[in-house]
Amino acid sequence: MIIVRDIETLQEAKKELGGTVGFVPTMGALHHGHLSLIRQAREENDHLIVSIFVNPTQFLEGEDLDSYPRKEEADRKICELAGVDVLFMPTIDEMYEHDELCIGAPAVRGYILEGEKRPGHFDGMLQVVMKLLNLSAATRAYFGKKDAQQLALITQMVKNYFMDVQIVPCEIVRDENGLALSSRNVYLESDEKRRALCLSRALKRATKMVMAGELSVKSIKKEMFEVLDEADKIEYVAIVNREFKALEEVEIGNTIILVAAWVGKPRLIDNLWI
Ligand code: PAF
Repeated sequence: MIIVRDIETLQEAKKELGGTVGFVPTMGALHHGHLSLIRQAREENDHLIVSIFVNPTQFLEGEDLDSYPRKEEADRKICELAGVDVLFMPTIDEMYEHDELCIGAPAVRGYILEGEKRPGHFDGMLQVVMKLLNLSAATRAYFGKKDAQQLALITQMVKNYFMDVQIVPCEIVRDENGLALSSRNVYLESDEKRRALCLSRALKRATKMVMAGELSVKSIKKEMFEVLDEADKIEYVAIVNREFKALEEVEIGNTIILVAAWVGKPRLIDNLWI
């Protein structure tokens, strides 16, 4: 594995990579969720590039940019063992210049749910993902379904800008209790870890209701809010189609149920694709 910190060296390294290239962009503090993306990308491509870059433009004022978990040494070992060919870890100066051209998230889909609670987050996220996809020139890029709205917006960006890369959605990875893995889970104290399980429990309750034939969004959301009572603050419960349009009835095969809530220090998100 070679570790690359600047763009010139990355371009040189890429010349050695014939065949298909898989790409997994991350912000580091790698966990089993990332590892499952890395493994899938490793299996489906001749070569594999992983990036680790805590992108400042997707953090809002007052968010955890400075305290975001950074575990460079452990991340490097994980990538080495997972068979990564190129680990790209650029500096901020390498990625950005002053007074940049920016791309923006779409006016509707980019400013609901996560986009409403974190206005501007998706602009910064899309900006860096556009850069990283262009730099990696990957055949396929891998993103987790846990960030469902991020995944939808990246897929839309690739379509709208005619970018030559296949976006591969990857399943959510959970711990043994059902908590969706996230780098921010390290912020959870032990009692909060237990309370955080109410997010996946609410999604399980929704699944049971749908399986029993209940498709009314209003009824499902009502029950979910009840299960979520252990969260400190519920930010939203939403039931949308795969285009992120609100639904009145669950459409089997075309629905995502999403939840965002604060439990202790972290703000947690989780979802279920039906
Ligand atoms: O999901 C993430 O870790 C980040 O949003 C991404 C896609 C690496 C862009 O910074």
